[in-house]
Amino acid sequence: MTAKISLRNVSKQFTVRPGKKSGGTATTLTAIDSLNLDVRDGEFLTLVGPSGSGKTTLLDLLAGLSTPTSGEVLVDGQPVTGPGKDRAVVFQQYALFPWRTASANVSIGLEGKGPDGRKLSRRERAAKASEYLKLVGLACFEDRFPHELSGGMKQRVAIARSLAYEPDVLLMDEPFAALDAQTREQLQEELLRIWRATGKTIVFITHGINEAVYLGQRVAVLSARPGRLKAIVEVEIPDRDGAEDIRSTPAFVEQRHKVWTLLHDEVRLAQDAGHRKILPDGSAPDEPATHQTPERSAA
Ligand SMILES: Nc1ncnc2c1ncn2[C@@H]1O[C@H](COP(=O)(O)OP(=O)(O)OP(=O)(O)O)[C@@H](O)[C@H]1O
Ligand SMILES: [Mg+2]
Repeated sequence: MTAKISLRNVSKQFTVRPGKKSGGTATTLTAIDSLNLDVRDGEFLTLVGPSGSGKTTLLDLLAGLSTPTSGEVLVDGQPVTGPGKDRAVVFQQYALFPWRTASANVSIGLEGKGPDGRKLSRRERAAKASEYLKLVGLACFEDRFPHELSGGMKQRVAIARSLAYEPDVLLMDEPFAALDAQTREQLQEELLRIWRATGKTIVFITHGINEAVYLGQRVAVLSARPGRLKAIVEVEIPDRDGAEDIRSTPAFVEQRHKVWTLLHDEVRLAQDAGHRKILPDGSAPDEPATHQTPERSAA
């Protein structure tokens, strides 16, 4: 297997500001603990885990927006030292510049050097923006401003922007969470189409089990905080492209149930520990207690 992304024994801790109740001492919060994970070149990996299990923290590490406390994050075998144009991030919020048209938002990443390292002319940038807006189903929307677009359209623009500078890896943090169910399903289909057409490696975080199983070739399940890899589910759905509505096939329902079962206990654990997550005063007491239940060891 060629690993595009490798996480080797990765842990991430945060120092939490001292709160009034903790008597002024800063505490350490372990968001991710000893996580090992390989993502194949060209793979679509979805990542699920309870709220607070370290999913966004993990994505930030992959994006190079933060560094691990220990362990290694490798892309193409090289340690990640910061953000790079080989990796694009799509967040839940569209993060478009309101004063720029859709086209100008998409071409933003091309204003320095283009994907081949050459500086592109304004016309070339506009052509590339059109090409990617077309790819996400927004041909003819180049001149619209974000306030003239629906939520789904804005997210399409954000995806087009991420694709325009031709990264190898797309890192997506609940990108469809704010959308209505129909738009979400439509964008899921479009994302699969784009993934098939471009061969990108995609790491996609979601709270939706259906979404994880529908999109992912594998689903990585994180444990409740501190996030560890609880299991990896290989999604095996025969005739994936042939079925009219794969979500209602027995194979889909079975895989979905598998992920649901794995996640269910972790969500409960996270809820039980919720009051200890971070107290309103900012402290995070008795951190180590959550490590010790045997069934929560990494799969
Ligand atoms: N900069 C920070 N400083 C202190 N604690 C942090 C920081 N960033 C994240 N955390 C803590 O790390 C833990 C993991 O957070 P993270 O945002 O990665 O969770 P998540 O799995 O993405 O949750 P959600 O599903 O709600 O988005 C949480 O307990 C959070 O409070
Ligand atoms: Mg998150």
